[in-house]
Amino acid sequence: MGTRGLIFSSALVLLLLAQPVSVVSASPPFACDPASPSTRNYGFCQTTLPIDKRVNDLISRLTLEEKIQQLDDETPAIPRLGVPKYYWWSEALHGVSSWGHGIHFDPLTIPGATSFPQVILTAASFDQYLWYRIGQAIAVEARALYNAGHADGLTFWSPNVNIFRDPRWGRGQETPGEDPTTASKYAVAFVRGLQGDSPTGERPGQLMASACCKHFTAYDLDRWNGTLRYTFDARVTAQDMEDTFQPPFRGCVQEGRGTCVMCSYNRVNGVPTCADYNLLTEQAKNAWGLDGYIASDCAAVDFIYGATHYAKTLEEAVSYALKAGVDVNCGKAMSQHVGDAIKNGNVSESDVDRALFNGFSLRMKLGLFNGDPQKLPSGDIPPSQVCSTEHKNLALEAAQAGIVLLKNIGNTLPLARSNVTSLGVIGPNSNAPPSLLGNYNGPPCEVITPLDALQRSINNTRFAIGCNVPGNVSDIPEAVQLASSVDYVIMFMGLDQDQEREDLDRTDLVLPETQQTLISKVAEAAKKPIILVLISGGPLDITFAKDDPRIGAILWAGFPGEAGGSAISSIIFGDHNPGGKLPVTWYPQEFTKVPMTDMRMRADPATGYPGRTYRFYNGKPVYQFGYGLSYSSHSYEFAAGTTTSIYLNNSLSPRAHPNDPNTLSYDIASLGFNTCGELKISATVGVKNHGPMAGRHPVLLFSRWPSTEHGRPAKQLVDFQSVHLEAGESTKVEFSLSACEHLSRVTDDGRRVLDKGSHFLIVGDEEHEISIIA
Ligand SMILES: *[C@@H]1O[C@H](CO)[C@@H](O)[C@H](O)[C@H]1NC(C)=O
Ligand SMILES: *[C@@H]1O[C@H](CO)[C@@H](O)[C@H](O)[C@H]1NC(C)=O
Ligand SMILES: *[C@@H]1O[C@H](CO)[C@@H](O)[C@H](O)[C@H]1NC(C)=O
Ligand SMILES: *[C@@H]1O[C@H](CO)[C@@H](O)[C@H](O)[C@H]1NC(C)=O
Ligand SMILES: *[C@@H]1O[C@H](CO)[C@@H](O)[C@H](O)[C@H]1NC(C)=O
Ligand SMILES: *[C@@H]1O[C@H](CO)[C@@H](O)[C@H](O)[C@H]1NC(C)=O
Repeated sequence: MGTRGLIFSSALVLLLLAQPVSVVSASPPFACDPASPSTRNYGFCQTTLPIDKRVNDLISRLTLEEKIQQLDDETPAIPRLGVPKYYWWSEALHGVSSWGHGIHFDPLTIPGATSFPQVILTAASFDQYLWYRIGQAIAVEARALYNAGHADGLTFWSPNVNIFRDPRWGRGQETPGEDPTTASKYAVAFVRGLQGDSPTGERPGQLMASACCKHFTAYDLDRWNGTLRYTFDARVTAQDMEDTFQPPFRGCVQEGRGTCVMCSYNRVNGVPTCADYNLLTEQAKNAWGLDGYIASDCAAVDFIYGATHYAKTLEEAVSYALKAGVDVNCGKAMSQHVGDAIKNGNVSESDVDRALFNGFSLRMKLGLFNGDPQKLPSGDIPPSQVCSTEHKNLALEAAQAGIVLLKNIGNTLPLARSNVTSLGVIGPNSNAPPSLLGNYNGPPCEVITPLDALQRSINNTRFAIGCNVPGNVSDIPEAVQLASSVDYVIMFMGLDQDQEREDLDRTDLVLPETQQTLISKVAEAAKKPIILVLISGGPLDITFAKDDPRIGAILWAGFPGEAGGSAISSIIFGDHNPGGKLPVTWYPQEFTKVPMTDMRMRADPATGYPGRTYRFYNGKPVYQFGYGLSYSSHSYEFAAGTTTSIYLNNSLSPRAHPNDPNTLSYDIASLGFNTCGELKISATVGVKNHGPMAGRHPVLLFSRWPSTEHGRPAKQLVDFQSVHLEAGESTKVEFSLSACEHLSRVTDDGRRVLDKGSHFLIVGDEEHEISIIA
């Protein structure tokens, strides 16, 4: 989404910079009011008819001009049919948000909503049921806002499931990280929760809300070294497309039954994604079966003409988009130019009807043509469900579950409250509510900063800011003085939205220099090894702190949301045992030599290109994907009964690829659905918490091949589960896998194949061999 820095169209700048205004609305108009005499005659209001019949009835009543006005995100009312206006664009990335135009908070009635941690931190919990419950809580709050007249739409353009491919990406914070399996599972869980489906995907009938997976596809560069997302042409190989960029979207649509996909700003291999028929219609709609609509990112359709000149005129731009499969345009381009495009012959009325069919079908599935909103299944959700104790506790639980313990020498943490007679809190992120929330936030219920929470625990707590985040304002002597006069020092450093955000990628991976100086000087002055807490979305090269023995413990807390201060404090004092694992690789600063514009995932040793993410990066990370300590130690073992061999006895014979003559493999496509269904793998992993503390612990299961030749990943996460274990307790975690899905790889021409021979499952340092035998 673009709400800042749009430079191509002044009309859109006005449109997109407009912030939502608070309005106190009395009971808003709704469609199909049973009190209206005309309503009972409209076919589209007959709830006993199937939705497609109702939608076709509605479309048949519209004039061409009325149809064209329904194609943009802010659709006007159609008063003669009693259809109210509908605003498609709302956001709910980590809580109902005030970005977009569909939701209006009101200081007097509903001033805020629960602000969960920014997604990158929630992802670090590797807990799918937690992700589901967050989506579910957001949907309840969204319905409460709607019921109270604060919503002109229930279509949320969340989640962002692009792969966090480059550590500098300003929007990496919004995503579930760098791994396609994690991003796909995040999409499924969050979308099911937000749309009101059960955790296993059953749908009760009415959608609670509509989720939208964005930004389709290969979008993960905003503004870097002169390259802008609006004009960037992502050159993506067939191999990377199939096994890195597309899985989260496929998961969202097929398994999560997400009802929307948003096309992105960038081009992919020359074609603007919002003009790409193969991507939008052939893949998302036809191959994956998207049951919903395709939205454009805001002004992305204008940019098909304005930014890239891929189209020669705006009429041609809207025609490319409509014909490619866009159903809802964010902006004004469709209502302004589709009329002319029809006159030109670039677009036919049936293209418009298809878009309207998808849009109105969804509005009906949300129950918005079923009469009085109070009588809908979700019509009795009251305003008190927004910022309920249950949801605020969930925000705390999510922050606690995600926070990652990176370093803890000599059990620096946890601290015993009774031992802390004085505490020094130092750093710019100690007491800055906005820095906890991350972007695409809404007004929170209440924010507890780390300083607030620590002051509640330790009476003698003193604070010095030390410097600001960019480091151009500092008072290091004051911070050093404080550090030398207290028992314990906790520093809150890192980044904020002025360092990494939409429309701004980083150029460095290190902390601003003043911050590094402050940390080192404070650590030197302190009586005991200090505790360093990093607030950031993207990863940081903090080698200096990792190696400094005067820094006893390091926590990464992402942007932890409204309860972030309490969550951090509970971990520091051992009320909660940290279990979060990094969802991205933490690269060294030297990685910044790699052009962010180089989309290749695989390393190219011949040119020194190091590759990207834990699957392909061949350098030494500062911290690796999946890393995270606990106050307890854990051990794993593969239990007896874990599959050791898979027999393929049918007539298919494995083939050797011309580039890779030594490996025999099966095409997954030719094995087919039924055979693949038989190639089941069960893995049972014993996991033990050796103490001293109870806690949740995510168990990450990877697979690997005997070699990394021909673009095979070093390893690949295949599944994960988060388990709670008491100190000393052990349990068995069962994974049900499929050889076709979890042991396959993608060839350099984009085909998914299963290699004959050895494969390995990995958990911790344990490996288990599985043979595919023909
Ligand atoms: C739009 O119509 C013009 C004039 O008929 C034609 O030259 C152009 O190729 C068409 N463009 C598209 C995208 O269909
Ligand atoms: C309190 O501090 C003392 C001295 O450093 C240490 O020996 C003791 O273990 C601490 N108590 C707890 C409960 O951590
Ligand atoms: C803080 O001080 C108050 C009042 O002096 C006292 O009642 C309370 O127990 C103290 N709390 C802690 C955590 O020491
Ligand atoms: C510090 O730098 C930021 C940009 O990073 C700038 O906006 C701000 O004005 C600077 N403050 C001072 C006091 O120089
Ligand atoms: C950034 O752009 C400049 C000018 O085009 C180029 O010389 C430089 O190599 C680029 N930086 C990186 C890391 O690619
Ligand atoms: C292959 O044969 C074995 C042993 O007869 C059997 O257990 C297995 O299910 C067969 N596999 C397939 C894919 O038919």
